[in-house]
Amino acid sequence: MAIIEEVSTPFDDQRPGTSGLRKTVEQFSQPRYLENFIQAIFDTCTELQGGTLVLGGDGRYYSETAIDTILRMAAANGVGRVLVGREGLFSTPAVSATIRRRGAAGGILLTASHNPGGPEGDFGVKYNVANGGPAPEQVTEAIFARSREITGYRIVQAFAAVDLAREGAAEVDGMPVEVIDPVADYRALMAELFDFDALRALFRSGTFTMVFDAMHAVTGPYAKALLEEELGAPAGTVINGEPRPDFAGGHPDPNPIHARDLMERMYRHDAPDFGAASDGDGDRNMIVGRHFFVNPSDSLAVIADHLDTIPGYRGRVTGVARSMPTSRAVVRVAEARGYDHYETPTGWKFFGNLLDAGRVQLCGEESFGTSSDHVREKDGLWAVLAWLSILAGRRESVEAVVRAHWTAYGRDLYSRHDYEGLTKDQGERLMANLRDKLSGLRGTATRPGPRVSDADEFAYTDPVDGHTTSGQGFRLWFDNGARAVLRLSGTGTSGATLRAYLEKWQGDTLKHNDDVQELLADVAEAAREVAEVEAFTGRREPSLVV
Ligand code: G6P
Ligand code: ZN
Repeated sequence: MAIIEEVSTPFDDQRPGTSGLRKTVEQFSQPRYLENFIQAIFDTCTELQGGTLVLGGDGRYYSETAIDTILRMAAANGVGRVLVGREGLFSTPAVSATIRRRGAAGGILLTASHNPGGPEGDFGVKYNVANGGPAPEQVTEAIFARSREITGYRIVQAFAAVDLAREGAAEVDGMPVEVIDPVADYRALMAELFDFDALRALFRSGTFTMVFDAMHAVTGPYAKALLEEELGAPAGTVINGEPRPDFAGGHPDPNPIHARDLMERMYRHDAPDFGAASDGDGDRNMIVGRHFFVNPSDSLAVIADHLDTIPGYRGRVTGVARSMPTSRAVVRVAEARGYDHYETPTGWKFFGNLLDAGRVQLCGEESFGTSSDHVREKDGLWAVLAWLSILAGRRESVEAVVRAHWTAYGRDLYSRHDYEGLTKDQGERLMANLRDKLSGLRGTATRPGPRVSDADEFAYTDPVDGHTTSGQGFRLWFDNGARAVLRLSGTGTSGATLRAYLEKWQGDTLKHNDDVQELLADVAEAAREVAEVEAFTGRREPSLVV
């Protein structure tokens, strides 16, 4: 064993954000930067000593270097064995599935999710624990604390001569390494949950076509295996299906702006019946019908309404959860069906305890994330299979399914307005100002809009472990029934983005076709006024409307 103890000094910026440590490739390439953080993980997460570690990611630039370093550090830190995805690839939900199915102690995911990749792009490292989910805040805080007192790291000298292109057994200085098919466990899990025969029949019917945009990110191999090989969708159903280290220069975020190829196809005169896309690491999803975009909050509500028709969930749905900025559409379904419902802070990790405790089976977020208790991450392809199941059962168009939902429950008009590229200082001062005036907001009139009926700063006490998380964004309720939420994004790598989430319930079916932005204009203006957006940011209008 040639273990080397390298001397190091701490970096002070290694606090994991909403979803792991996410920085530019340039920052990660600083000498000792990655090593320090990995050592902090190994020092903190002692379950890895002698345990199995799952390793892989979305294949973005810098992954190969990072995998080499992590394998050598794992060997030097007493990790029992490492399962690494072929070519270093592993979607985030598939890591979660593999950790759970193989009883691994944890996983290290190399991804910056939907952020652009390449030498000028972003990189990220995320630690997942034995339940398959992101490390809870207590653990990420402990990793951060450790990173600030690091004095050195352990690594073995030998180059980790593991051929990632070939499945099979290898070793790094005595530590067993297995290069595995990153799709196999995940594919087996999906087959247990969904009625694949019914989905095959849908594709065979000859009246149904779909397109899945993998955005040159990790879901290409997964989507081809499941949709084309397993379910019989014709070759070419999956577009942009080859993972690339820079996502072919694209921004692998499945929303109407960045998934341009998909949107263009779905709005053509010969558009397919169903379209979907996933992000860099495969945990997000966007659902589109023919000439019809499905808002993620509506998608969650529709899935909730049909979940017990899917074999893996029949007769066992008791609760659902949504992140706080997600619309209340799913709450209406829960109330009608007698399911419990929970409102958590933004970030998938907050669903973990609820899922582990069996309190909820379905979770979702406005940020294009949906999943169930089959894993402890959000899962893009799972959402696609859930929608395919709904369409196979109802044999109606996506648009018809959503409109029927609105007719039954009313429509929660919804939009997110982002003010991007602010300085950290602008963002923080705006939030501090809201905090200062919070207690006096109730009853405030906005001109010419609605009156604020209530306001708070969201805090969440986890009902399972009692841990309280505060400062999670401001909620404003208005006397016309609308709600606005204001928070700063937790996933950027520089500056700040202010997000304003706007929603209003519309029971009148005749108004379900009206322009959402027009219907929400008064809420948008009221939120801007209350938060003094222009005074603090110099912006009159959002830079991105989703
Ligand atoms: C990541 C997390 C999600 C979260 C989202 C919010 O994707 O996995 O759980 O909803 O970030 O991003 P934001 O930029 O709004 O903090
Ligand atoms: Zn992601």
